[in-house]
Amino acid sequence: MKVLILNGSPRPNGDTAYILGALKSKFPYGTEFESLNTYAANIHPCNDCRYCWEKEGCCIKDEMEILWKDDYDVLIIASPLYMSFVTPPLFSVISRLNHIWSNHYFLKLPGSLKQKKGILILTGGADGSPDPAINIAKTAFRFLNAEFNPALDYIKSLNTNTVSVQDDPDLARQIDITLSHIFGA
Ligand SMILES: Cc1cc2nc3c(=O)[nH]c(=O)nc-3n(C[C@H](O)[C@H](O)[C@H](O)COP(=O)(O)O)c2cc1C
Repeated sequence: MKVLILNGSPRPNGDTAYILGALKSKFPYGTEFESLNTYAANIHPCNDCRYCWEKEGCCIKDEMEILWKDDYDVLIIASPLYMSFVTPPLFSVISRLNHIWSNHYFLKLPGSLKQKKGILILTGGADGSPDPAINIAKTAFRFLNAEFNPALDYIKSLNTNTVSVQDDPDLARQIDITLSHIFGA
């Protein structure tokens, strides 16, 4: 099994990284992980060049190629909340998924990405209304053909200013629920 992680946090040892580590440690031995740290990656946002209105795919060639290999079974989208949204470089990555929609709408191309499972991780300092971030993650999962159930596949710690993520009393329970759902237990 391969897991692709889109990590939107700029802090390598921050709150999002902590949850990612706790979640990764519970995957079965032998699971392969590949991470795209969106702050470190060189990924351009979509610039509406409209190549994808006429041709298949996207004309920008950069580290987005990791996603187009489509060789992963689980997609984890992880981000701190910034103004209730995902962080800007992660949104740049998500904007680049738009060619999937345009190829389908303008060129009538069928979706070709394999089905996979989605997990969302959000951190926030003070319960900052996560709905905008949840909604954009849902869009990303849908475009990438990842099943996502917000009641089961969403792990959050939204009060990190007051309760450190390491001390979040609900984290282990959320991780267990998500993994039970992912592995069909
Ligand atoms: C620019 C900026 C905007 C933020 N906006 C929010 C917000 O809307 N809601 C919230 O709960 N926390 C907000 N935060 C706090 C972070 O989401 C929080 O500290 C998070 O735990 C950091 O995670 P990290 O260590 O993985 O980067 C913001 C922080 C920054 C720097």
